[in-house]
Amino acid sequence: MDYRGIFEDAVDALRQEKRYRVFADLERVAGQFPRAIYRDRADNPREITIWCSNDYLGMGQNREVVSALVNTATRMGAGAGGTRNISGTNRPLVELERSLADLHRKEAALVFTSGFVSNEAAISTIARLLPDCLILSDQLNHASMIAGVRHSGMEKKIFRHNDVGHLAELLEAAGRQRPKIILFESVYSMDGDIAPIAEIADLAARHNALTYIDEVHAVGLYGPRGAGICEREGLMDRIDIIEGTLAKGFGVMGGYVTGSRPVVDAIRSYAPEFIFTTALPPALCAAARASIEHLKTSNVEREAHQRQAGRVKKVLVEAGLPVLASQTHIVPLIIGDARACKAASDMLLDRHGLYIQPINYPTVPKGTERLRITPSPFHDDAMIDELRDALVDVWARLDLPTRKISDQLSVRALPPGDLTLPTTGG
Ligand SMILES: Cc1ncc(COP(=O)(O)O)c(C=O)c1O
Repeated sequence: MDYRGIFEDAVDALRQEKRYRVFADLERVAGQFPRAIYRDRADNPREITIWCSNDYLGMGQNREVVSALVNTATRMGAGAGGTRNISGTNRPLVELERSLADLHRKEAALVFTSGFVSNEAAISTIARLLPDCLILSDQLNHASMIAGVRHSGMEKKIFRHNDVGHLAELLEAAGRQRPKIILFESVYSMDGDIAPIAEIADLAARHNALTYIDEVHAVGLYGPRGAGICEREGLMDRIDIIEGTLAKGFGVMGGYVTGSRPVVDAIRSYAPEFIFTTALPPALCAAARASIEHLKTSNVEREAHQRQAGRVKKVLVEAGLPVLASQTHIVPLIIGDARACKAASDMLLDRHGLYIQPINYPTVPKGTERLRITPSPFHDDAMIDELRDALVDVWARLDLPTRKISDQLSVRALPPGDLTLPTTGG
């Protein structure tokens, strides 16, 4: 058995399909975001500008956050030292869970080692505890939610993206008595569009279904206290379970769910992904809490973020670049071809020192390959002009599709038949 050959072939297959992922070796320098040191394959260092980080507000370099991490590590050591049940429940973690429950105005919160794990663990556990549960999942839900659905082993139905009419049909067909849970995101990470949260909450109430929302690309960024789109829209009390990450808007690491005490306690008591793993280190918990508490009272970062994201969209649209209209801080530039997308990303880095990772299938549907730009409050106007000039240069050199062409590429109109479970995100 040529085991080595089998794995080599599997990877080669991805290369053929232009789906092989090449990671950029980066050294971020606290205090200089979004500048960083990039090292090429020969380890030659070079200063670049990152335009695709999910540390959306740059909280990863915030002084309060960094000193909370350093002071706590110095005081309590590097690791948690055990599972939550066996000596790993540390004081900063307990305080973090209280801070998160307060943020989303819920009875309780539970912290996991990542947002991926929180979705996978919470969804699979909740669905398994509901007898004959039917899961209703948005077509563009993240890979971690799909992993939870699959792991639950329960029946699922996929509704077309943000299509409340289709969701209503599926709920109607399931009947009022059957336990049901609706899974969706507030901000979809690749298109930057927002779910019709109020309509979905209305349907859930009418058809007696639970609601589970992933606010991973919204927490810290939206709402008067940074709790997300549900807070901004005054809908937090209408959603049963709110899931988020500590790794994007808050700039650290980890994931969490919030909800009623019984549902959170049930996940705590049944989820193997929570029970049989080491707890999040106290230093990370203290850093995440410092970030959350800072953003509960400060709108400075959010306002600057929205201002700079808005300016990026305006400047790139005026330059005739194929910006996909988004309601949020995510700025997708549609290229529609995996090879061209990779070439554009490489040329931006090599010729202009600007780093934007190409996003290809299966993260996005074939034909909608894109550069996903995520401006931060630290991308100043000069950097935005530099980005525009670099993109215009690359678009001309590679003869890439301009705005006129991208408008014809209505990326969101996925063919109705395509209701399989794609693996999106990450
Ligand atoms: C929508 C969504 N949910 C969950 C996750 C997982 O979060 P984390 O990075 O904390 O594992 C991601 C990560 O990219 C995501 O995009």
